[in-house]
Amino acid sequence: MTTAVIGHRGQTALAASPLALAIACAAPHDLESQQDSFAAPRAAMVMDQIARRGVSDVRVLAAMRSVPRHLFVTPGEESRAYDDSPLSIGHGQTISQPYIVALMTELVRPQANDRALEIGTGSGYQAAVLSRVVGTVYTIEIVEALARAAEQRLKALDYRNVVVRAGDGYAGWPDRAPFDVIVVTAAPDHVPPPLVEQLRPGGRMVIPVGSLYERQDLELIEKDLSGAISTRQITPVRFVPLRRGSPR
Ligand SMILES: C[S@@+](CC[C@H](N)C(=O)[O-])C[C@H]1O[C@@H](n2cnc3c(N)ncnc32)[C@H](O)[C@@H]1O
Repeated sequence: MTTAVIGHRGQTALAASPLALAIACAAPHDLESQQDSFAAPRAAMVMDQIARRGVSDVRVLAAMRSVPRHLFVTPGEESRAYDDSPLSIGHGQTISQPYIVALMTELVRPQANDRALEIGTGSGYQAAVLSRVVGTVYTIEIVEALARAAEQRLKALDYRNVVVRAGDGYAGWPDRAPFDVIVVTAAPDHVPPPLVEQLRPGGRMVIPVGSLYERQDLELIEKDLSGAISTRQITPVRFVPLRRGSPR
């Protein structure tokens, strides 16, 4: 499970401008979705949990405001969808805390035409958020039932630029590489070399690294235009382990 994390930049006061800009930048489609009965808790989530903790990319804030998180949680759990915490999605897995989804999305500095890879589709929520700020999202899930459910959910919600596959994300998706952005939402004890290889020069990867029972850190890994790799530790986190093997 991903734990609640207090803003890595501290509990900074909300600058009025990022949120106001996020609202101003919302597309008509986004504005329509704000009419739903969860629009108010979703707006409060963006302001109180995300912007207030220091996430300021207006496109990321707009994406978090527009994606209907309550449609990605287990039926019956909708009233908890905008809580400041991860939630169970069955199969021993979780949908991550909203702040962590926003933080990881901001850290990879998404661009409109980027090709993104996500490891750990889960409910499909992080993929849906990413799909609002990049060109195409490829996402891999090792639990076959979760992969199928996420694929159907994303299709029903008309996220046309997300491609879901069941498999072991440790190996990445060589046929679709290279990627400008890689987001890993389960924790390996080391950075998988295939993912580093599949990062385009100039690309950014965010990944939790460590053990479930000891320390895990969220790392930002960047490949510069010459292919050199740099790594920065961002904040302690707690994610489910990255499993290995065939989909089950
Ligand atoms: C914290 S959950 C991800 C939450 C998800 N991103 C969402 O938005 O709902 C981690 C997911 O990674 C999956 N996972 C674990 N190991 C994996 C692997 N080797 N390849 C692909 N998915 C994996 C788990 O089954 C689980 O669904």
